[in-house]
Amino acid sequence: MTREILLQINNREEKVAVENADTLLDVLRDRLQLWSVREGCGVGACGTCTVLLDGRPVSSCHLLAVRAVGREIVTVEGLSQGGKLHYIQEAFLEQRALQCGYCTPGFILAVKGLLEEYANPTDEEIREYLSGNLCRCGAYGDILRAVRSAQEKAHIKSSALVK
Ligand code: FES
Ligand code: FES
Repeated sequence: MTREILLQINNREEKVAVENADTLLDVLRDRLQLWSVREGCGVGACGTCTVLLDGRPVSSCHLLAVRAVGREIVTVEGLSQGGKLHYIQEAFLEQRALQCGYCTPGFILAVKGLLEEYANPTDEEIREYLSGNLCRCGAYGDILRAVRSAQEKAHIKSSALVK
């Protein structure tokens, strides 16, 4: 059965017609053309389809779109502001933490969730938090450096705010 739902995506309200069985991944890509959200395994095991749902990373291939009504959804398209990249995106570029880049949007959102939950994560906490995101190119060392660089940028930003 098709029905219309309202989704809050990247600070905008989007009205979309969905089938009950449509996943959030289907809707974000096929109806809203948010191409940063990518399909990998399709069964919740690789993290390439990660989005933030109320600030927490979730696999959008594993969530029915109708279950996302009333929740705040963020994709990478919602991160940059005024044409300026988000500091986590900058950290990934500066640390060259990508090769083919297929996994990168999912990792960037997972890192955002991580840094909102942990101000000073240990290497083990980072590995554990990001364990649902796989990189077929094996760029894990560079990704860890990007997390550390993003963490530094976050601290610089928050100390500038309290001055
Ligand atoms: S495509 Fe969703 S977790 Fe792999
Ligand atoms: S950079 Fe290629 S899959 Fe991660």
